[in-house]
Amino acid sequence: MCGITGYIGYQQAAPVILEALKKLEYRGYDSAGIAVLHQGKLQVRKMQGRLHALEARLASEAAPLQGTLGIGHTRWATHGEPSDANSHPHRAGAVAVVHNGIIENYAPLKAWLCGQGAAFQSGTDTEAAAHLINYYYQRQSRDRPHADPLASAVAAAMERLNGSYALAVIAEDAPDRILAVRKDSPLIVGAGRGEQFLASDVPALLSRTREVYFLEEGEIAALYRDRIAFFNGQGETVHRKAARIDWDAAAAEKGGYPHFMLKEIHEQPKALEDTLKQRLCTGAGGRRDVDLGDMPLEDWKNARRVVITACGTAWHAALVAKHALERFARLPAEVDIASESRYRDPILNSGEVFMAISQSGETADTLAAARLAKAQGASVLALTNTKGSTLAREAGCALYTQAGPEIAVASTKAFTTQLMAVYLMALKLGRLRGSLTQEEYCRHLSALEEIPEKARQILGDERRIQRAAAHCFHKAKVFFMGRQFDYPVSLESALKLKEINYTHSEAFAAGELKHGPIALVDNETLVVAAATQRRLFDKIASNMQEVAARGASLLVITWEGETAFDRTAQEVFPIPRTEDSFSPLLAVIPAQLFAYYCATARGNDPDKPRNLAKSVTVE
Ligand code: F6R
Repeated sequence: MCGITGYIGYQQAAPVILEALKKLEYRGYDSAGIAVLHQGKLQVRKMQGRLHALEARLASEAAPLQGTLGIGHTRWATHGEPSDANSHPHRAGAVAVVHNGIIENYAPLKAWLCGQGAAFQSGTDTEAAAHLINYYYQRQSRDRPHADPLASAVAAAMERLNGSYALAVIAEDAPDRILAVRKDSPLIVGAGRGEQFLASDVPALLSRTREVYFLEEGEIAALYRDRIAFFNGQGETVHRKAARIDWDAAAAEKGGYPHFMLKEIHEQPKALEDTLKQRLCTGAGGRRDVDLGDMPLEDWKNARRVVITACGTAWHAALVAKHALERFARLPAEVDIASESRYRDPILNSGEVFMAISQSGETADTLAAARLAKAQGASVLALTNTKGSTLAREAGCALYTQAGPEIAVASTKAFTTQLMAVYLMALKLGRLRGSLTQEEYCRHLSALEEIPEKARQILGDERRIQRAAAHCFHKAKVFFMGRQFDYPVSLESALKLKEINYTHSEAFAAGELKHGPIALVDNETLVVAAATQRRLFDKIASNMQEVAARGASLLVITWEGETAFDRTAQEVFPIPRTEDSFSPLLAVIPAQLFAYYCATARGNDPDKPRNLAKSVTVE
């Protein structure tokens, strides 16, 4: 989704803003722009295309953009096609605005503003917000208690804007401040010395500051060179405490890898270790145990059912969570896609608990589903990678994964760390609910402790996967199938290939093969089978025979040393042995690498997949 940055300080703003925009490139965008204020004049440069095109244009100008205050934007088109005119910042009179989100009532607002004399230059929803702020700015909104007319104008506009927005606003006659506001769209203020920063996401700030403020819903921040002021929607000053970000700045760089995605795939052993380390502890009597932090264990221990919601990859983690909670804790679990559950009037009864899984903690649908659950009085737990995210704050109770910043659009380490967290949770609950003996509990925990090293071994076998990808990347039709724990892995594997190789790939529970998908299987088809559920080996082996008999090529992900599929499969990706229930932690890694190497063989940039955005902050 769109990326917002802002800078006010003593340095030239344009290079600082461009650097921050580059850090937000991973969010996905089609146009970029910047506005810098100098000697009371706004200078706006914006265009369709990548950031380097904007940079080249700035470099070709006779003189560099001067000014120590400015805002920048990368646009991911929603309303109006990608074009120079639709790029942000949008100017209206004396103000310039950048926006992330969707102004849902832009059409009636635009009609009204045109009636007031506003002249629109673009087809965007954002321009309505810019003109509305300018409208109130011109009238100074003196009836409001703000001393600051720009903040007052922003507050007045907020009352009429419907939808979701993170806005950064500057004005020609306000050379000492940037105004920032958010509703249902993230915005983060970074505090420096004599300079302040603004960004949609933490990685854009890491090289500048670790002291950040996560703007609250409806809150306005005024960034001055030497201070930051916060107001609520009523114009009252709010005192905020900065949060400290402990992510390593280097974690948001490529560190010698050609792409963030490959780097993040390789970071999985460490991320899994960190997620484990954070939770494993010594319990009563010196026995190993799991500490789930603030999680309301009594609610969960006594729960009659758990409802889990998420989107995309996180939804696949939720499906694994269902299996794990049912298997280890004998706790019935239901999984709901957030965009469906939020509109379905879901039933949550007393004695049921709710978990939302989200890497970013900012996904619009997941947030809406969690809010709905909270409004129904449910105990809501956020499983997220992002401290200070909206989901973490609103849920009131959060369990964090330790993946570090995930920059690549295609999620990898966030997924496996989510899995690690849900396994730990399921085991702990299994012990508390009495469905696991102490001995079983310890045995499962030991198996989990071996996972990071086993993940490392798979990464050591990368070349084999690269070679297979070189033969398969052009396949037009790829099916992924698996049973039980292998089914969510298949869904996740298909999603990866779709996202970055643009292959029409589909996943199904292998038992469904004969209920439809087999009609599409022919000698043009590639089928990837995940086969790690030993109890069901015979079943998946039959499914493999069925697709092979129809001419499909077959790749299999299975245990090291397993020979059952050698005769049917063209290629086997072996994974080190562990318990069947924990296989998703390992089986997904060859599939991630396969998708990555297919995409690079095709010449795609896996870090910038077409049409996709990292953090889906609008519906
Ligand atoms: C896929 C991917 C997306 C996200 C989804 C949810 O590779 O990254 O499907 O998983 O948009 O995002 P979060 O976890 O941030 O809520």
